[in-house]
Amino acid sequence: MSSEGKVDCGRRRLLVATAAAGGVAGIATVVPFVASMLPSERAKSAGAPVEVDISKLVPGQMMTVEWRGKPVWIINRTPEMIESLKKVTEKISDPKSEKEQQPEYCKNETRSIKPAIMVVVGICTHLGCSPSEKFKTGAESGVDPEWAGGFLCPCHGSTFDLAGRVYKGKPAPINLEVPQHMYLSDARILIGEDKKGA
Ligand code: FES
Repeated sequence: MSSEGKVDCGRRRLLVATAAAGGVAGIATVVPFVASMLPSERAKSAGAPVEVDISKLVPGQMMTVEWRGKPVWIINRTPEMIESLKKVTEKISDPKSEKEQQPEYCKNETRSIKPAIMVVVGICTHLGCSPSEKFKTGAESGVDPEWAGGFLCPCHGSTFDLAGRVYKGKPAPINLEVPQHMYLSDARILIGEDKKGA
């Protein structure tokens, strides 16, 4: 222990000495790096698009990325999950998403560009809580014995299906938001932009 401590101290002295000896050259290498980071951070907070690699997202899984300070969920739905959307349609308040603004290319049965991949903002449209993932079905879900999978908002009980559509009789007035997005390739999605150069 004590011998390790001596080694550390020695290294620390060596680093300090190197930095001091480096002088102006040392600063010159650091400043451009910091400067190049700043616009990127500013751009992010201003809402710059976010590129996401979904190559490791296997069916049945979801991932969360941040865009404009909001959580965006990307869900790779299994064929069963997609099939569940048809089964719950009658229980959904606005099955065709006619009440809210959303990209034209998501005005379809799955609310998505590709049937399997759902991209949706993970913020409840009632008062902004974060709904919990409830992918287990039936009684095991703890939501409802007939639960087909989806999301439950812990604040006031709004429930959403696997396309982010809100169930009838819940406090959330509209479905979860589908953000603008586009595919750069099969494995890469750009969130926040839906056509090149937009
Ligand atoms: S904030 Fe989600 S139900 Fe109220």
